[in-house]
Amino acid sequence: MPKLSIRDLDLTGKRVFIRVDFNVPLSKAGSITDDTRIRETIPTIEYALRRKARVILAAHLGRPKGKPNETMSLRPIVDRLRSLLDHVLDDGENVAFAPDGVGPIAQELSNNLENGQTLLLENLRFHAGEEANDPAFAKKLAALCDVYVNDAFGAAHRAHASTEGITHFVPHSAAGLLMEKELNYLGKAVTEPNRPFVAIIGGAKVSDKIEVINALLDKVDSLLIGGAMAYTFLNAQGQATGKSLTEPDKIEVARAALAKAEERGVKFLLPVDHVLADRFAADARTQIFTGKESFPSDKMALDIGPETIKLFASEIADAATVVWNGPMGVAELAPFAKGTNAVARALAKNEDAVAIVGGGDSVAAIKNSGVSDRISHISTGGGASLEFLEGKTLPGVAALTDK
Ligand code: 3PG
Repeated sequence: MPKLSIRDLDLTGKRVFIRVDFNVPLSKAGSITDDTRIRETIPTIEYALRRKARVILAAHLGRPKGKPNETMSLRPIVDRLRSLLDHVLDDGENVAFAPDGVGPIAQELSNNLENGQTLLLENLRFHAGEEANDPAFAKKLAALCDVYVNDAFGAAHRAHASTEGITHFVPHSAAGLLMEKELNYLGKAVTEPNRPFVAIIGGAKVSDKIEVINALLDKVDSLLIGGAMAYTFLNAQGQATGKSLTEPDKIEVARAALAKAEERGVKFLLPVDHVLADRFAADARTQIFTGKESFPSDKMALDIGPETIKLFASEIADAATVVWNGPMGVAELAPFAKGTNAVARALAKNEDAVAIVGGGDSVAAIKNSGVSDRISHISTGGGASLEFLEGKTLPGVAALTDK
């Protein structure tokens, strides 16, 4: 990695500010429903604590728009962190919490931290200066620490005070272990993938994924498209798709991507059969529709069909590198999650391939299918992994100190 790593720094006795991505889903009652992002940062926190650093953790949760909002407080994270760090914290020692984020309490707590102790700051987005990347706010964050580490790959596509601005006011800015791992996996996939390289892109809209599709067309051997965006591509090939969700104003863009694939010799696979429903509901009446004819005008496609599952699975079986982002159907409705879950299983079955999965629905499918431990890399970044694959510079990475 061309950037400084936490492993390059002397941490002992230093106040180490670690920007983490604790943007985890909470239930209405405020309990954490998926702590993956917290668990994934534990190696970095543990690394610093074992070297007797004084650790200050900072993160955002949700989009509170620059104002305090009790439903987006990071306070519920304290207990989970405490239990995940149990093996490295001293008996009876807790993770301290600064309810003001960067105010006098945070300042005092950070000054009084002892070696090997941890402090969590309240949601930085309670302050307008965070998302505005206000230099004055970034300076206040920098005043809390001696060393800055960014382990929040999931937020690295945001140029905010805690991901970018702070780096201008600290002597060293280094990548954490999770950040390094994410950059290594994704970086290798886009720069020197083992081939065949297969990308599977799903989701509702062509407009959300066209940039990644275009970038991947320069790199992959096969591109598999699922989700509602597939119907805009089918429209571009002249097939009418009934009441399926489409973007008529993106048909030209879809046509151009199909032409690019042909020009580059990239296999561009669209669904060959579909699960059609009479309405958007879990108890809708369904039928399998196969072929290139127009869909019945009163039906909508909500998942890929069994032949497409076979087609996609055989492509995945032959791959040496697979990147997957986005569901194949309406995965949140059980009857239309089959395609997405089948892709998850196909990925797990190809044990020789490097498989990289990003995006909430795809990651959820991997977890629901119970195959997480058979996937090489499950990214903690949704938008960030997508922007990385698009070839964009992530401000949170660019701002780190060069080695
Ligand atoms: C995410 O959940 O993708 C990251 O934490 C970034 O959150 P944001 O999209 O609200 O900036």
